[in-house]
Amino acid sequence: MKFALVTVVLLSSIGLANAASVDKGQALVEKANCASCHGAGLNAPIMPAYPKLAGQYPDYIYYALKAYKEGNGNAIYGRNNAVMGSQVQAFNDADLQNIAAYVASLPGNFVIKK
Ligand code: HEC
Repeated sequence: MKFALVTVVLLSSIGLANAASVDKGQALVEKANCASCHGAGLNAPIMPAYPKLAGQYPDYIYYALKAYKEGNGNAIYGRNNAVMGSQVQAFNDADLQNIAAYVASLPGNFVIKK
């Protein structure tokens, strides 16, 4: 018991206890059925206006999701999109980090053309 407590304190002090979880993110994405718009593997959107997500940097995904949640509440920071705004309201900050980690872990086909 004492050992477990010390371990938890140590882990949180070096940040590991807060590390984003790909598995938790996957569960949230599957439950919310994000693929119904963003397509299989979040890499084959059903319409061109829907972005590919797979393999995107986790920081970018996280801040995009935060901005949809913020919506118009913050004109500088928010993204005002009715569709995505309604998708993210139920998620807390840790959920969004986990989702971002999962999205980033997926094989994508973003390319840099030269
Ligand atoms: C009903 C269709 C739909 C569903 C379901 C949906 N999305 Fe989206 N998503 C969109 C559309 C449309 C956009 C583009 C919105 C815009 O123009 O800002 C978008 C944009 C995004 C973006 C921004 C991408 C970028 O490159 O800026 C992220 C991240 C995202 N969605 C994640 C998710 C996640 C995670 C889920 C599941 C929780 C989800 N979406 C569910 C339609 C959907």
